[in-house]
Amino acid sequence: MSLDHLSSLEDVAQALVASGKGILAADESTGTIANRFDGINVENTEANRRNYRELLFTADGMEKNIGGVILFDETLRQSGNDGTRFADLLANKGVISGIKLDMGAKALAGAPGETVTEGLDGLRERVAEYVGLGALFAKWRAVISIGDGRPSAYCINANAHALARYAAICVEGGLVPIVEPEILMDGDHTIETSFQVTHDVLTAVFAALAEHRVPLEQILLKPNMVISGYDCPVQADVATVAAQTVDCFRQTVPANVPGIVFLSGGQSEISSTAHLNAMNADHSDLPWALSFSYGRALQASALKAWVGKSENLVAGQQAFLIRAKHNGAAAQGTYVGE
Ligand code: 13P
Repeated sequence: MSLDHLSSLEDVAQALVASGKGILAADESTGTIANRFDGINVENTEANRRNYRELLFTADGMEKNIGGVILFDETLRQSGNDGTRFADLLANKGVISGIKLDMGAKALAGAPGETVTEGLDGLRERVAEYVGLGALFAKWRAVISIGDGRPSAYCINANAHALARYAAICVEGGLVPIVEPEILMDGDHTIETSFQVTHDVLTAVFAALAEHRVPLEQILLKPNMVISGYDCPVQADVATVAAQTVDCFRQTVPANVPGIVFLSGGQSEISSTAHLNAMNADHSDLPWALSFSYGRALQASALKAWVGKSENLVAGQQAFLIRAKHNGAAAQGTYVGE
């Protein structure tokens, strides 16, 4: 396998969401992977991070359901045990490498409790370097929270502007931008509030993308699902989440966006799979592919099975492959349960 057949950004965007495929978000920053490793008592060293990522990337057959992997800067520069660079190892399996480009959500001046994502300075040069290292797509995550009057229109617009500038620079430099406005599910808000905020954020994001002349055929959208806040006493059921999410996107996401790849955002592995499946199984005539770009929902069981021990490598890979397979089925609406 190789990736030589991908000759345009449209090709790359479509390959990432080809039938039964989605994206593995393995781009945890050094600080975020520390949290994941803490949970399994693994020391956060470069060697352990490399060994863990190699476990995921060398899982036999993961390429059936994983079209691309989002990497952190360190990982894109690392190699497997046999000296093959991770980007080449993945390309040899037909899997596309992506790069996390944002530098994290930082306090937004004048808006207590809200953030704006940084990383635009020098971005054109960083894009050129990552293209040279073999990346074909990128990710930028904006973070919006709900509660106590949040989100403000100021926060939504500041983040939409940054996402659009990032996306325009990616397209110019030869990377498919994944545009990720994540509305956190923390809080006791209802699914109706989640719908309204998701609607407002996506409306602002697509207005900014248009203003910044971003060709929508060359991007992927990575949103949250429309879901009840985790502390809301009434939790919407799977069919309602699927219906509300699809309805919200039909109102806000233009039909020429090739794919919508969800984040899991702290949902359990099984809920993430069930929700995605219901969207595809219960709703027809969707203009975009609906698939996954999960981090925790593809990795939680794998981390627990591995716990940092080389003798558990195969067990970790098997746990990852099960989630990849079920989510690949959910992307086609054919998941039949565990
Ligand atoms: P989760 O699926 O764990 O939310 O991670 C996806 C991601 O890439 C967040 O930016």
